[in-house]
Amino acid sequence: MIYFDNASTTAVLPDVAQEMYRGMLEYTGNPSSLHELGFKSEQALNKSREQVARAMGVNAKNLYFTSGGTEANNTAVIGTALAYKSRGMRVITQVTEHPSVTDSFRHLEALGFDVVYLPVDANGHIDIEELSDSVNEKTTLVSVMYVNNETGAMQDIDAVIRAAKAKSPNCKVHCDCVQAFCKHKLPAKADLISVSSHKTGGPKGVGALYIADGARVESLHFGGSQEKGLRPGTENLTGIMGFGLAAQISSQDLEQKAENVLKVKNTLLSLTSLLPDVYLNGALDSPYILNLSFTGVRGEVLLHALEADGIYTATSSACSARLKNKLKIVDLLNEGRGESALRMSFNSQNTPEEAEAVCKAILKHVPILRKFQPR
Ligand SMILES: Cc1ncc(COP(=O)(O)O)c(C=O)c1O
Repeated sequence: MIYFDNASTTAVLPDVAQEMYRGMLEYTGNPSSLHELGFKSEQALNKSREQVARAMGVNAKNLYFTSGGTEANNTAVIGTALAYKSRGMRVITQVTEHPSVTDSFRHLEALGFDVVYLPVDANGHIDIEELSDSVNEKTTLVSVMYVNNETGAMQDIDAVIRAAKAKSPNCKVHCDCVQAFCKHKLPAKADLISVSSHKTGGPKGVGALYIADGARVESLHFGGSQEKGLRPGTENLTGIMGFGLAAQISSQDLEQKAENVLKVKNTLLSLTSLLPDVYLNGALDSPYILNLSFTGVRGEVLLHALEADGIYTATSSACSARLKNKLKIVDLLNEGRGESALRMSFNSQNTPEEAEAVCKAILKHVPILRKFQPR
């Protein structure tokens, strides 16, 4: 099997699975209980918070566990906009965000907020001047992702922060770092950062939100004091323990891993010269994601042809793959390319030999599929 769908999710690391098994059996108390079993669980929770915070390069006291990247993004966007509502109603994002961000802004729009959706160029980048022009003194929130989940295009978050704060010094900047965590150094100056466990060898259904000192976020959940009241409800301790260890392991040697993964990506990129009418979607920014359109072949058909060879890829992000009539991000960059797009996404265990095998399979399938799918 060759697994090139790591942006959708990753397999749980064996040591992480062991740690979760141990956690489930040994940490049976509720972290909020006042007795010894509760205290032991609370200590395990705090250790995991330290591990994730260290991997992110932030202070553990500023980190809140959530049920994943989606909830972290919902809370960051809606919770921040609501907290600063009396100061201003302008909030800004861009069009290629993950649906957990875009749909949060749509919700704010329905609540009467003045929402700006910045466009991107053919590389998937926003124009910082355009951002600067849309920020006014009533702007309280700017949310721009770091690594795009469909193309790997990366935004210049430091420039986003500078542009936003120059015009509205108290404005908060949120950055969805779900695809960047444990792959790229995170933008240190963002006020809010979302990460997720299952993109980096941890279990599914766990994530975290970093909130800088001084940033206020209204809770969207009610009924308890866990996570300082921001995310009430008994913690998913086993999942959080797995997340902590996965973050600790996966955050090692980022530069070396990126170099190795780049070899995998470059091997596959050679397809653009080996076959006619193959196009790169988005900039060649993050080595972890490659999105190519094979004109004349539906991405879904190619995906299943490769699957029959034991090769796993994607046509778009997992959360939008099943949504009918939803515009693919690739179409926002180059209209008409979404239908034939194939996303391949890597982890540090993938090898150039695997990439060569996938190239061979694509070189075999695409000319045949093109014959049967008239343009
Ligand atoms: C960029 C980005 N943000 C947010 C999410 C949502 O994370 P989760 O699956 O943990 O809810 C994803 C998952 O695909 C993602 O790629």
